[in-house]
Parts: sequence; C-alpha cells; structure tokens
Amino acid sequence: MPLLPDVTVDPPSPEPRDAYEVSAEFYDILQADRDRARVHRFYARDVRTARRGVLDVGAGTGRVTLMSLAESRVPVHAVEPTRCMRSLLMTRLAALPAGMRTRVTVHPQGLCEAGLREVADVAICHNTIGCLPPDARRALWPAVAEALLPGGVLLVHLPPDRLPRDEATHVLPAQKVGQHVYGGRMVMSADADRIRTRFEYWVRGARGVLREYTETFWMWPASLAEVIAELAGSGFVPLPGRADPAVLTVRLER
Ligand SMILES: C[S@@+](CC[C@H](N)C(=O)[O-])C[C@H]1O[C@@H](n2cnc3c(N)ncnc32)[C@H](O)[C@@H]1O
Repeated sequence: MPLLPDVTVDPPSPEPRDAYEVSAEFYDILQADRDRARVHRFYARDVRTARRGVLDVGAGTGRVTLMSLAESRVPVHAVEPTRCMRSLLMTRLAALPAGMRTRVTVHPQGLCEAGLREVADVAICHNTIGCLPPDARRALWPAVAEALLPGGVLLVHLPPDRLPRDEATHVLPAQKVGQHVYGGRMVMSADADRIRTRFEYWVRGARGVLREYTETFWMWPASLAEVIAELAGSGFVPLPGRADPAVLTVRLER
C-alpha cells in the first residue's frame, strides 16, 4: 500500500454530496431484516418469471438486486447513483460466488442518465419513488419504458399518498453488535407539499451513548391515480389482481 502523503484522489467528476452519508452506516443493521422479507413478498414471484433481465431502479445497498440474483437466472441491472449506498452494494456483490456476480451490472448514475435500452422484462422501483421530487419522478417513467422490453412488467412500491396530518414516529428496533447496541427512529412530518423524514440514530455502549446522528430526507406524496396517470403517458397499463396495495404493477403496452 502507498503511504498516505503519496496518495492523490482524483474525483471522477463533480458529484453532489451523498444524500445517504450518515444513513448508509445504519441502513442495513436497522432495517434489513424486515425489508428482506418484504422485498421477497412483493417481488419474488415476478422476478422468477423474468426471461431477459431484471432492472432494479435505486438499488441502494442491494436488497432487491440480491433477491433478483437468487430468484432468477437472467442478467440483473442495478442502478444506484449514490456513492455510499453503491459501496455497500459492491461489498455485497464482492461476497457472491463469481458465477452469480457475472450476472449483475451496476450502473452508477440515475436511471435517466444510464442510457439503458431494452435490457429487462421485469423492473422494480422499491422504496425509491417517494424520495423523488415530482419532476424527477415523472422523468423516471420514460427512462423505465426505454429500459424495458415491450410487454415488460414494472413493479412500483408506492409513495405515501398524502401528507401526514401529525408528526409520526417510527422506532427502528435496536440491534446488538458485539458490545454495542445500535438504534434509531424515523420522524415524519408535513412541510408545505413535502414530507420531512428525519432519521435519528444512536450507538450505545456499557456506559451510555457513544455516538448520535441525524439525517433528514424529503419525500413527496403521490396518489395511486396520479402515479397511474403518469405511467400511462409512457405506455404503461395497470395489471389488476395484485395482492399487496403497497405495490402497483403495470405492463408496458407498446
Ligand atoms: C430510500 S433508497 C432505497 C434503496 C433500496 N431500493 C432499498 O429499498 O433499500 C432510494 C435510492 O434511490 C436512489 N435514487 C435516487 N434517484 C435515483 C434515480 N434517478 N435513478 C435511480 N436511483 C435513484 C438513491 O440513491 C437511493 O439509494
């Protein structure tokens, strides 16, 4: 390894500050178990039907990507623009058997910049749409349509459909890691047309709190009708008869 003074870092190009730079450390330890089960329940059945490829839009630390690799035999495209989340994803991929790893391609841009054309017949947006401002959300649908083959299916984890009336707190169950306990909570409140989502994290040792952080995200509500209308503009039609109301399934009819 070179000595530190010999190292220069050339940023590839100006990148915005990472939105998840605090949360990345806590994301999987505090949320993974619950979300792993949810991701399986929401998407595994459709992923098993994929014959050409699976597209994971906003792959984060890789829960949908990993499930898609396990449940299908097709190429998987993980689109993740945020460096710290992508780093965790890459660590996960590095631990996979080489045969499985060769099936996944990581795209380090937002979907609109990734230039993907007809790479998948199943696309998934899990826990991503709610984090996009309306303009960015609307810009995403034509890019998903480009990336899908005709007849392809898109599964959208729906954003909150309205602003919260009162402040709501959701406790993230504490997890023991060696001699430390990690915990946190998520506090959601309305701010004009957005939802302020403040994550508060803590790490405790035997003598009390060792570290504390907060990180605030913004979310934008959208009703089911709005999302369906936006998607229709890019050639998507809803598929009825899906069990979970948290996920909208649409097919690309063009
Ligand atoms: C709340 S995280 C969810 C990550 C993952 N889907 C999960 O549920 O664990 C939302 C992710 O969407 C990514 N993202 C934001 N804008 C995006 C875009 N235009 N295209 C693709 N991903 C995007 C963010 O970098 C972030 O990792």
